[in-house]
Amino acid sequence: LYRFPLIKIKGIPLMCHIADNWNSVWAFRPDPLDLLIATYPKAGTTWVQEIVDLLLHNGDAEVARRAPTHHRIPFLEIHSPPPIPSGLSFIEKMDPPRVIKTHLPFQLVPEGFWENKCKVIYVARNAKDSVVSYFHFDQMNQTQPEPGPWDGYLHKFMNGELPWGSWYDHVKRYWLEREKRNILYLFYEDLKENPHREVKRIMQYLDLSLSDDVISHIVRLTSFNTMKENPMANYSCIPDQIFDRSISNFMRKGLVGDWTNHFSPAQNQLFDEDYKKQMKDVNIPFRTNI
Ligand code: A3P
Repeated sequence: LYRFPLIKIKGIPLMCHIADNWNSVWAFRPDPLDLLIATYPKAGTTWVQEIVDLLLHNGDAEVARRAPTHHRIPFLEIHSPPPIPSGLSFIEKMDPPRVIKTHLPFQLVPEGFWENKCKVIYVARNAKDSVVSYFHFDQMNQTQPEPGPWDGYLHKFMNGELPWGSWYDHVKRYWLEREKRNILYLFYEDLKENPHREVKRIMQYLDLSLSDDVISHIVRLTSFNTMKENPMANYSCIPDQIFDRSISNFMRKGLVGDWTNHFSPAQNQLFDEDYKKQMKDVNIPFRTNI
């Protein structure tokens, strides 16, 4: 039905509706109080959105759930026909401080975010689980380009040909900028390992001070099993015509290490060799198994 083709902006493949609206995205001026949640797709964006939203509402789920996630936390660059909402149209209707989501790589983030020293939370997930999650997502999300078979998809991931470009460049660039730009760089695997500790880190970064009881409450509300039952986290406002849930749920498995169910030994070897080359200039402490 949709399956938008990709168009490159500054060398990054983006869905055509984003590229068509690129000038408005690039010209966007955030408020210094706005917070950006930035990720490569499938890193746990929705999870961290829920955590941030609850932190900002003192753990009160009723308040935080008054509107679907993308009405509360608009997706900066998305600009597709209804019923998928256009990010900027929501942002413009909101008063700062706003929480804004993006998958844009560092170099495509509108410069106002850096000029205004906005807070930025980056979430990174290990490459192997990211590509597996993205593969399932691209099958179910009828607006993403057709993923094709798994082996070809894996190569597209390694070559940076999927929407929003190279995972390797994405995670590296934010990593290298994190100190200078005061970016809170989180790992999906850390959130899985010790959500209480990580939620507290996010709270501190946001200059909030909530009790340990409230933090525990937020951890419970944002566990995979609770979020799986939460219509907002599942983007239930997006119809089955776009998110084909007969193929996969949005809240699919939520695990570290699911890649072992998809990579053949040969694919794993090839991937590891390529990974070493692509990541040789940085040392980001990713974990593919816990
Ligand atoms: P899987 O496909 O591996 O299950 P994003 O929000 O960036 O699109 O990421 C979606 C991925 O994060 C999916 O991964 C989803 O299940 C997982 N996820 C979402 N909420 C989660 C939670 N509370 N705990 C663990 N994983 C979660």
